[in-house]
Amino acid sequence: MTCAMITGITGMVGSHLADYLLAHTGWEIYGMCRWRSPQDNVRHLLRRAEKKDRLHFIYGDLKDSFSLQKALTEAKPDYVFHLAAQSYPRTSFDAPLDTLDTNILGTARLLEAIRACGLNPIIHVCSSSEVYGRVSACLLYTSPSPRDRTRPRMPSSACKKKHTTPSSHLPDPTTITQRFS
Ligand SMILES: NC(=O)c1ccc[n+]([C@@H]2O[C@H](COP(=O)([O-])OP(=O)(O)OC[C@H]3O[C@@H](n4cnc5c(N)ncnc54)[C@H](O)[C@@H]3O)[C@@H](O)[C@H]2O)c1
Repeated sequence: MTCAMITGITGMVGSHLADYLLAHTGWEIYGMCRWRSPQDNVRHLLRRAEKKDRLHFIYGDLKDSFSLQKALTEAKPDYVFHLAAQSYPRTSFDAPLDTLDTNILGTARLLEAIRACGLNPIIHVCSSSEVYGRVSACLLYTSPSPRDRTRPRMPSSACKKKHTTPSSHLPDPTTITQRFS
């Protein structure tokens, strides 16, 4: 049976991805969440998770390698959709170290945990305009535009991409980085 793990399932994108995968695949979905994460985005899924109807919420914090290994050991995912992050640009100015810890070291901890568990899933990592620069009118993106180097999230996102570039952490990783805005 195919299993997918979504980090950040309680977030805006993660919750929509869970809805999509539940509706369009027969996969088991493991949603990783922190104990203090608000559940507003997944309220409609709580009953389903209680019944373990192809949906399981598992505890995991990007700042806690042990919790990541425990979650991965339970889920044994074929796919990892890594959406958990400190995602607020404003907060990255107010709390830059926390942002870097969550987004850069957190991604590294996740990849190391995957390796430590002996798993070799396809890993999807989201990225953003902070890495690739802004695109004005065209929908098809072909080449990088100049980066805005004043934003703390820019190095954070760029570093996240570097971590997930093949050869960084996993023996034979398949990582897909997708720009989100
Ligand atoms: N929404 C957008 O327009 C947009 C644009 C560009 C990039 N992105 C990226 O897409 C991803 C998802 O975005 P979103 O809008 O759903 O963000 P969001 O803020 O709604 O969700 C973030 C999720 O990460 C979780 N999280 C935060 N810190 C964590 C930690 N230490 N351990 C475990 N989980 C933690 C939160 O609990 C939440 O579930 C993020 O990486 C974001 O940077 C989003």
